[in-house]
Amino acid sequence: MKNFNRTRRLRGNPAIRDMVRETRLSLDDFIYPLFVVEGEGIKNEISSMKGNYHLSVDMLLREVEELLDLGIKSILLFGIPNEKDAVGSQAFSDEGIIQRAVREVKKYFPQMYIITDICMCEYTSHGHCGILNDNNDVDNDKTLEYLGQIAISHARAGADMLAPSDMMDGRVKYIRQALDREGFVNIPIMAYSAKYASNYYGPFREAAHSAPSFGDRKTYQMDPANIREALREIQYDIEEGADLVMVKPALAYLDVIRKARDNFNVPIVAYNVSGEYSMLKLAVENNILSQDVILETLLSIKRAGADIIITYFAKDLAKAGLVR
Ligand code: PBG
Ligand code: ZN
Repeated sequence: MKNFNRTRRLRGNPAIRDMVRETRLSLDDFIYPLFVVEGEGIKNEISSMKGNYHLSVDMLLREVEELLDLGIKSILLFGIPNEKDAVGSQAFSDEGIIQRAVREVKKYFPQMYIITDICMCEYTSHGHCGILNDNNDVDNDKTLEYLGQIAISHARAGADMLAPSDMMDGRVKYIRQALDREGFVNIPIMAYSAKYASNYYGPFREAAHSAPSFGDRKTYQMDPANIREALREIQYDIEEGADLVMVKPALAYLDVIRKARDNFNVPIVAYNVSGEYSMLKLAVENNILSQDVILETLLSIKRAGADIIITYFAKDLAKAGLVR
């Protein structure tokens, strides 16, 4: 009798399945995003992103304590200022919402690893990720000067890592040089390298009050149809000094994550964005999908080649003991 391959032998019980598992999720893999607002005593649920909150700095401190207890060690902070203007002044003010939030968290919880988003769209009155020129175009090189100032102000406040998400050309180099000049040579840059002009950011823009007031972001964010261009973006960012590179969103771009993994040796970060979160969250809440779909989905991002996943699911999973 000719033998055939019995792959089911390695699926017979949990012990053997655990033994041969190729990909595992751990809390070490996760970065948890948080939204900080001005004021006091504020913890308001974000309607487009159930289970996520607008937090004032005092409430942020409570949240950070809870996260540390749950085993979540790193957060990505987004700030929502009260005052917006054409050049996003609150983004680089030492008294800005993010700068104050970082100082406070570091004062009470120095062990929490804080990554800050470097962009202007939450801070500009027009909602674009940079400074506009007379034609209402985002002026790339002018914007770099502002990004440099934002980066320095975040570093001065005590941020551990900076994550530029604006998609201006040359920003990684510009920010790296600005940081080095100010003595922050040891602060890593996590570049949003392959950031696509995606519809999956919808819930975030509602949460961050950052939708552009006219036009769209297609002149600076990538065309969803392109993958070779993603490799170029990543290559340029590494050449400019990025310590980690990101693909964003994650799920509709798993092929990009895989290609990035196969072509580069820096850590690859995938951003499981707001729309991806809300889709699953709503399906699970309405009993259309079992909550195990969340692990299956995050596993796919890691299997595709991501080392690190930025995800709004981190706290839920830690709380439920599904990821340790
Ligand atoms: C801002 C920024 C966006 C996200 C992170 N930083 C939105 C955008 O580019 O409009 C999206 C995150 C998410 O959807 O979870 N540059
Ligand atoms: Zn932006």
